[in-house]
Amino acid sequence: MTVITNIEDLRVLYKKRVPKMFYDYADSGSWSESTYRANERDFQRIRLRQRVAVNIEHRTLATQMAGVPVSMPLALAPVGLTGMQWADGEILAARAAERAGVPFILSTMSICSIEDVARHTSSPFWFQLYVMRDRDFIGRLIDRARAAACSALVATLDLQILGQRHKDIKNGLTTPPRPTLKNLLNMATKPSWCAAMLGTSRRGFGNIVGHAEGVENLTSLGQWSAEQLDPTLNWDDVQWIRERWGGRLILKGILCAEDALLAAETGADAIVVSNHGGRQLDGAPSALEVLPEIVAEVGDRIEVWMDGGIRSGQDVFKALALGAEGTLIGRAFVYGLGAMGEAGVDRALEIIRNELDLTMAFCGLTDVQSIDRQALWHGSKSWPAPASD
Ligand code: GLV
Repeated sequence: MTVITNIEDLRVLYKKRVPKMFYDYADSGSWSESTYRANERDFQRIRLRQRVAVNIEHRTLATQMAGVPVSMPLALAPVGLTGMQWADGEILAARAAERAGVPFILSTMSICSIEDVARHTSSPFWFQLYVMRDRDFIGRLIDRARAAACSALVATLDLQILGQRHKDIKNGLTTPPRPTLKNLLNMATKPSWCAAMLGTSRRGFGNIVGHAEGVENLTSLGQWSAEQLDPTLNWDDVQWIRERWGGRLILKGILCAEDALLAAETGADAIVVSNHGGRQLDGAPSALEVLPEIVAEVGDRIEVWMDGGIRSGQDVFKALALGAEGTLIGRAFVYGLGAMGEAGVDRALEIIRNELDLTMAFCGLTDVQSIDRQALWHGSKSWPAPASD
């Protein structure tokens, strides 16, 4: 049995244990995957500034994200089909997040429904909203999130249409998987995944099937996006969402300063700088690369968070140093989930917490809220260039 010491160990185990089509769904970006790769690569280019002989005995990672107390500045990102990575995956991940004291964000395209996750958790989770053409349904979805006591709504703005991920098309990705010979042969090599999956009845899009008018047999994201996604989504709709929801609102998928300004003007509580994990516009910059200019534009008006490419606590640290006040991890927790179920999400969170804590200490800091650009080494190999001021 491999000793798990980092997120990459979880990914390797996850790849062994979960059917190829779901592994590929997570481990892919759109088209050439250049943006997907850039998200991780740009973290590697940043150098840190070590400090010594500073009293670092007592340290804290606790802070707030949009006014919500968190044990570290990190939330579990909304990830579609999480319940196919492991049986009842959303419930398991939400429980692990609850134990860790960080927010869990349930995707609209989850397998377990809002009500189901609420029944199996005791502290409030957050709900992520995709806007579909059927606005009555969207209105009801928002009401369902409120009724389930979700404490924030995360409206995703960068998926009015779906980016093309070659692997999903080639694999014929559906939920549940179609019983083709290829799928059955692959699943035969994943006994623990199959055993867990046979023990649950949650295998379809729990928030949608049976709730949206005429949607009884939705099995693929491609079908959903072609039939349901609303390409007309605009800032007026964001206002409508804000009013209908009436609570804490986070806008996700911002990738340039102009849009950040428009987002700040809506009165939302936070934005997430994100290229959707490199799954939408291939060729867009990494989230980390655009973070500093967005922080410079709106950082004094709205909380700026980021996601994309975070595979360690060091990556969280670097995002904070560049001005993010919160981070989201998607794949990093999915790797844990697929590797070891609920315990794997616990492990992923523990790994990241420990790496963040030690990195902070090596940089001579004791409070996560004090991490800033001073913690970066602005030498010749550093990226991005130091601010000119
Ligand atoms: C959906 O959000 C996806 O990126 O697949």
